[in-house]
Amino acid sequence: MQTVNTIQALRSAIAEQKRAGKTVGFVPTMGNLHEGHISLLHEGHKHADFMVSSIFVNPTQFGAGEDFSSYPRTLEADSEKLAAAGCHLLFAPSAEEMYPAETSGWATVQVHDITENHCGADRPGHFDGVSTVVCKLFNIVTPDIALFGKKDFQQLAVIRRMTTALCFATRIIGVETVREKSGLAMSSRNGYLTQEEKSKASLLYQQLRIAKEKITLGEKNFAQITKDAREALTQGGFGAGYFNICNAENLQPATANDIHFVILATAQMGGARLIDNIDFEI
Ligand code: PAF
Repeated sequence: MQTVNTIQALRSAIAEQKRAGKTVGFVPTMGNLHEGHISLLHEGHKHADFMVSSIFVNPTQFGAGEDFSSYPRTLEADSEKLAAAGCHLLFAPSAEEMYPAETSGWATVQVHDITENHCGADRPGHFDGVSTVVCKLFNIVTPDIALFGKKDFQQLAVIRRMTTALCFATRIIGVETVREKSGLAMSSRNGYLTQEEKSKASLLYQQLRIAKEKITLGEKNFAQITKDAREALTQGGFGAGYFNICNAENLQPATANDIHFVILATAQMGGARLIDNIDFEI
């Protein structure tokens, strides 16, 4: 695997592959890789000849008081994992390379509506940071396909809309969440949990499954389902969060006529803000 740190070096490595007629797949990450990220690469190999990954802890998607400075930076171990997963090219730019001081304040990318609720409401500006950096990365890498985990369901929806609205030629592929045996969704932030918190944390996915079961059996009182789930989470040691039953296409509150649902949930466990979801059709 080749590693490059500059946009220029990345562009010339990709141009060489494109001249040779290869299709390019892309997995953007913030590093601290786990099996979820690796599954994106494995899926990418099924659709593209040449796999590129990026590792960049994007400052613009972290709010004040969030974990930007403590976010785990594990480049060496990550490089080994990517190489073992057959990644061909790693882009690991500096903050200055991605956000040169002279362009500061010139342009950002903002996706509307779908960014307003859920994580968008909890983390103002977060999705502007995500869509801006993903837009920059797409312009740099020019991938034929790009892969994102379904664990960050709202992020995936935001990126799909941005890609369509801004006419990128990149096909977005959403990949199923990889889970621990307990059901806990794999996440870089699970590293913030103690062993005891980690075993409690699997309750989040359990509650998602219970809610799905109720809806599948015909329960339409979504407010009550949400209340029951939040109570169970509080009793199970979780702190503040949301548990939102939504229409899976537009992420608006679900109605009794909906068929395709997603339940988006986040909750604080110890030092980690955990996020998970379940999507299903009835
Ligand atoms: O999901 C992530 O790791 C990040 O939000 C992404 C898509 C790499 C953008 O920084």
